[in-house]
Amino acid sequence: MNAVPTLETHLSDDDLTAALRADALLGLTSAPKWLPPKWFYDARGSELFEQITELPEYYPTRTERALLERVVGEIARSTRAEVLVELGSGSSAKTRLLLNALTAEGALETYVPQDVSSSALRAAVEEIAAEFPAVSVHGVVSDFTGTLGNLPRGGRRMIAFLGGTIGNLVPAERAEFLAGIHEVLEPGEQLLIGAGLVIDPAVLVPAYDDAAGVTAEFNRNVLHVLNNRLDADFVPEKFDHIAMWDAENEWIEMRLAATEATTVKVRELDLTVEFAPGEQMRTEISAKFRLDGLRNELAEAGFRTERVWTDPDDRFALVLSERV
Ligand code: SAH
Ligand code: TRP
Repeated sequence: MNAVPTLETHLSDDDLTAALRADALLGLTSAPKWLPPKWFYDARGSELFEQITELPEYYPTRTERALLERVVGEIARSTRAEVLVELGSGSSAKTRLLLNALTAEGALETYVPQDVSSSALRAAVEEIAAEFPAVSVHGVVSDFTGTLGNLPRGGRRMIAFLGGTIGNLVPAERAEFLAGIHEVLEPGEQLLIGAGLVIDPAVLVPAYDDAAGVTAEFNRNVLHVLNNRLDADFVPEKFDHIAMWDAENEWIEMRLAATEATTVKVRELDLTVEFAPGEQMRTEISAKFRLDGLRNELAEAGFRTERVWTDPDDRFALVLSERV
């Protein structure tokens, strides 16, 4: 029985501010302007994301959950994982299905949720430890686009990366990310990816532009984060949320558009930024996949696809692969 969970932090508040300074300086002085997506997720951002997962338009979470419900038994039987590492675990809500199956069918001893959002991770670690007293829970606060060398070694591991978060990386970042996972895994250890598939834009776009405006608020949260951390003076209400399907790249692109000419001061950076009326700034992509493309990306990074499961409408896939 391991009732006391641990939380290990590899990102201090100062580290986060330093990283945001560098990202904001680069992105806000580029043409067109852009910001990296991990900055959505402060405590408020993580709460807004949880609200998104319950929106009628946001099909990914409930689709992936239903798929997991159907296939976790098979996943658990085909993996002998002793350690489940989950990247970008957030609230770990759907992971409970995996934890249940892996403890019932398998040899699970340890769960290692990892996230950049310390508030979300702290809450999840406490809840999971209380619900699964036979599992050791070790949270890791870190950036999965950086080194994965902080993740624990030993035990037969499976790394899970759910929620379609892999689509928030552009192809070059995905290759680097998968190479990093390949480096920390031993041959035979496994990777479980949950990925959104290319579907009708009429279903896709509303998932990222809901009628209640929660996604818009989530998108604008990056401006609150800049205000709080870098003493900027964005007026978030003066930026409109845009979600558009890029058919060539097969990704949803999220942007913020200035509703009027705006001058923003980022005091921590001694930076003044001008927005023309209507000027758009890219804040996030959410790429959707084709199964062949995903298998190829995995193969190129040194993973052999073992099993692929999709929901009945082919909106979402779970891909289990083995590190070669
Ligand atoms: N896995 C959950 C949450 C998905 S939302 C689900 O399926 O519902 C994306 C999660 O990844 C958030 O919890 C966010 O805080 C985290 N995240 C985003 N960028 C990250 C990064 N660079 N490093 C670590 N975590 C990150
Ligand atoms: N991983 C989620 C996804 O791509 C993140 C997300 C959902 C998101 N809605 C969003 C990111 C809106 C930015 C804006 O589905």
